[in-house]
Amino acid sequence: MVKIRLAKLDDFDFFYEMKCEDINIFWTGHGTKPERENLYSFFKTAINNADHREARKIYIIEDDGRKVGHLYIIPEGTCFELATAVIQQQQGKGYARKAIALGLDEGKNRGYKKMVTSIREDNIASMKAYTSCGVRVTDKFKMVYIPKLEKEVKMYFVEKELD
Ligand SMILES: CC(C)(COP(=O)(O)OP(=O)(O)OC[C@H]1O[C@@H](n2cnc3c(N)ncnc32)[C@H](O)[C@@H]1OP(=O)(O)O)[C@@H](O)C(=O)NCCC(=O)NCCS
Repeated sequence: MVKIRLAKLDDFDFFYEMKCEDINIFWTGHGTKPERENLYSFFKTAINNADHREARKIYIIEDDGRKVGHLYIIPEGTCFELATAVIQQQQGKGYARKAIALGLDEGKNRGYKKMVTSIREDNIASMKAYTSCGVRVTDKFKMVYIPKLEKEVKMYFVEKELD
C-alpha cells in the first residue's frame, strides 16, 4: 500500500541518491548533482523544523515499506505548494498520482485552502499526474532557464482548491 510519512534523518541517503539521478536533475531544472553536505544541511533543517507551520515538510513515499519517492509540502500563507519525485526505477507505476492525492489530503488536513505549484510544459508525466488528481492548469506561466537545454521553457501555474 502506498503512503506518505514525514522524512527522518536516516532517510537522507535515499533522498540524496534520488536527487543525484540524472532524470531528477533534469526535471527539477538543476545543472549538476547537489553537494552532499549542502543537501544534508537543507534536509536536516527541514526535519528539525517540521513542527513549524510555516516550514517546508519533506515526506517519503513508501509502498509496503519500500521507499519510492519524496514529496514536499511548502506552505505559502493559506496555500501550499506540493512537489514530488519518484525514483527512476519506479516511475510509470502510478506512484506520483497516488502520492499527489495523499499530499492534497495532507495539505487539507493541515488546514490549507489551496494547492498551487508550477509545472514545466514539457513535463508530460508530471502534468498527467497532477491533472489526474483534479489539479487545474491555469493560463499563467513563467519562463525558467534550464541549463541542460540551454534555453528557457514555460512553467505553467497549476492549482486546486481544497474544499
Ligand atoms: C513526474 C513524476 C513524479 C511522475 O512520477 P510517476 O510515478 O512516474 O507518475 P505516474 O506513474 O503516477 O504517472 C502519471 C501519469 O504520467 C504518465 N507517465 C508516466 N511516465 C511518463 C513518461 N515518461 N512519459 C509520458 N507519460 C508518462 C502515466 O502514464 C500517467 O498518465 P495517465 O494518468 O494518463 O495514465 C516522475 O516522472 C519524476 O519523478 N520526475 C522527476 C521529478 C519531477 O519532474 N517532478 C515533478 C516536478 S513538477
